[in-house]
Formats: sequence, structure tokens, C-alpha cells
Amino acid sequence: MRTVSKKMPIGIFDSGVGGLTVMKEVMRELPGEDIIYAGDTARVPYGIRSAETVTRYSLEMVDFLVQKGIKLLIVACNTASAFALTAIKERFDIPVIGVIEPGAKKAIETTRAKKIGIIGTEGTVKSSSYVHAINALYGNKPVIIKEHGTIRFDRYFEVSLDDLTIFTKACPLFVPLAEEGWAGNDVAVLTASHYLEGLKREPIDTLVLGCTHYPLLKGVISKIMGDDVTLIDSACETVNEVKKALIQYNLENNSSKPLRMFYVTDAPERFTKVGERFLEEKILTISKIEIGG
Ligand code: DGL
Repeated sequence: MRTVSKKMPIGIFDSGVGGLTVMKEVMRELPGEDIIYAGDTARVPYGIRSAETVTRYSLEMVDFLVQKGIKLLIVACNTASAFALTAIKERFDIPVIGVIEPGAKKAIETTRAKKIGIIGTEGTVKSSSYVHAINALYGNKPVIIKEHGTIRFDRYFEVSLDDLTIFTKACPLFVPLAEEGWAGNDVAVLTASHYLEGLKREPIDTLVLGCTHYPLLKGVISKIMGDDVTLIDSACETVNEVKKALIQYNLENNSSKPLRMFYVTDAPERFTKVGERFLEEKILTISKIEIGG
């Protein structure tokens, strides 16, 4: 493994601003850690792109962070974790933590009814990464897939693994709603009611928020799904994994003036404006970088 030390920062990578929900948790749980954040704002969204493109973009962004000298990488983007985590782990010899496995693990621990819902971008849902991660932890059971609804109306998938059933649904409009600051208004309620109509009919007791932006819509999602459904925030679960990895590799830092540095691939203004709402902190040190070509 590349030589890393306690004093080096943690790197967080996302397609744009959404990974700040993960950074917020890292700052809360690990306040003494320096953090460098890289958001690919010129090429966001990743959620509608192919596996090949997301992997290429992700490797370029992570290459930049690794060159900056990070001791551990968090792939905060669910879509990048779904498509590119293996390639990132193969290419870079530092500890790498994605958001899917921690969310999957927590979902299995939480469900009593053995009925789990997963919502995310089109890419994340299409990749079946959460299903694969849950199945890997559940003993790689034979998979039976059933489709509900139509492409135009309430389309979701039911995946049976032995006695456990997973329901997956893409909710693409949640991303712009969260960025627009509309996470709590009546447009959000209407959108969420449409997206969650099918899942609400199913007897799920656990719902994974499988996208960086969805924690901002927790209130609306919870109102629609009801109090009996536990929402799993992958960001919180990921930070627990980060803590464990820092201890395992003896990399914990306790800086009294922790560094927060942001790099984006497009003009920083929009990132700063939307990002301060996501992070609930001022974004002070931000630079634009050239990636790809
Ligand atoms: N960060 C992405 C994710 O968590 C959402 C935004 C995008 O589509 O790039 O999947």
C-alpha cells in the first residue's frame, strides 16, 4: 500500500454537490480530520450515464485526489460506488470506502419483516449494486426478479432472495428538487407520492436512501412511507466504516484547525450556494480544476 500518514487529509469524491451530505456526517463524527472534497460539477449528473462513462469520470476525479495526497478515499456518490468502486480499488492503493455496502449492511440488520426498499438514481437502480451487496451479505441466494408497473407509470422491481425481498425504484427528480431547495414543499410531496406509490403498497419496513441527495428529503419520504418504515441514510453508515478503517490502519487525526478544501470542475458559484445548504456550513476555500479533456 502507498505510504500514508495520520496528518494527511481524507478525500471525498462525488459527482457534484450531493456528497456534502456525507461530508457533513464525517465532520460531525470525525471533527479532527482534514478533508479535501472533489465534486465533478461540470459533468454531473452521473445517475443517467453509462457504467463506462461513470467509471472513466470517477477514475479521473480520484486520480486528482490521490495526487493531492489523501490517506483514505470516500466515494460518496452512490452511482460512482455502484459502477466504479471495483475499478477505483484496483487502481489506487489507499483504503477506499463506498456508500453501498454500509447501507446494504444496515438494511439487513434493520429489517424485521425481511422486506427492504431501495431508492436511488436510474444508474444505481439499474446496476443492482444494492441488491448484489445485500445478497453477498445474505449468502448469495438464487435471485428471482419480478417487474411491476410500466416504464411510464410506477415502474419498480421486486427481487426475491430466499426469504428476503427487495423492492427497487429509481427516483430521479429527487436530485433537482433537493438542489433547488424544494425538499419540503408541495411539489416534493407530490413527486414523492408518485414515486413511492408502489413501494408503499408493499410490506417493507426498511427503506435505503441510496442517493447522496435523498437525506434532504427524509421528512417528505418518511411522511409518505409512514412511521413503521425505517429510513437508512447511507451517509451515516459510511462514516462508521470510515471510523473503523482509520482505527484499523492507525490513521486517526486530531487536528485543532481542520482543513476543509473544495475542488470542482465547473465555476464554483453554484456549488458554493447549493453546497452551503447541504453542508450547513460556509464553503470558504474552493478552486476550479481542469479534469479530462
Ligand atoms: N451523487 C449521485 C448519487 O448519489 C446523485 C447525483 C448524480 O446523478 O450525479 O447517485
